Amino acid sequence: MTTVSKATKNGIQALSKKLFKLLGDKNGQIYQDNVARFGIPGKYVKKAFSEETPLGAVASAKSTIYLALESRCKILGFAQTIQQDADTTELDRIVVFPEYTGRDVGTQLLASVVKDEKRKGTKTIVVNAGIGGTHARRFYD
Ligand SMILES: CC(C)(COP(=O)(O)OP(=O)(O)OC[C@H]1O[C@@H](n2cnc3c(N)ncnc32)[C@H](O)[C@@H]1OP(=O)(O)O)[C@@H](O)C(=O)NCCC(=O)NCCS
Repeated sequence: MTTVSKATKNGIQALSKKLFKLLGDKNGQIYQDNVARFGIPGKYVKKAFSEETPLGAVASAKSTIYLALESRCKILGFAQTIQQDADTTELDRIVVFPEYTGRDVGTQLLASVVKDEKRKGTKTIVVNAGIGGTHARRFYD
């Protein structure tokens, strides 16, 4: 069963470790989809996905990380939001790891984000599909 919840400190550390490992494989889908496609410099990637960076972002209280978990500890995907002002939140990232796509996990992550933001009184959620991001666009639609 898949559950979505806000990440604890331990959850964020586990996620960072997984991402760091996946991003180390330059031929892997995660690297290709999230780094190569956007021409992001490798140095920036290392920093952005180190353990300290997401934890720092969450500690600032402007950012929330949601984890989709199976059996309470296997990470299937995640979403990260950043609050821009009282009315607006950006969905900074939503990623379902390649082996778990097409199983409704992304939809469950997105539904949790929307539910939480509605409760907070957020009026607008900004999402970015990127140039050529047709499948992301279809997903958000
Ligand atoms: C986009 C992403 C989050 C979707 O997650 P997912 O768990 O596979 O999505 P779901 O199974 O909940 O699919 C929901 C709907 O999205 C659409 N969709 C999902 N993946 C799609 C794809 N590859 N091509 C076209 N439509 C797609 C479909 O309409 C689908 O509905 P359906 O199953 O009834 O046809 C996931 O593919 C991913 O992580 N991609 C790489 C990162 C990315 O592009 N993130 C978003 C932009 S930042």
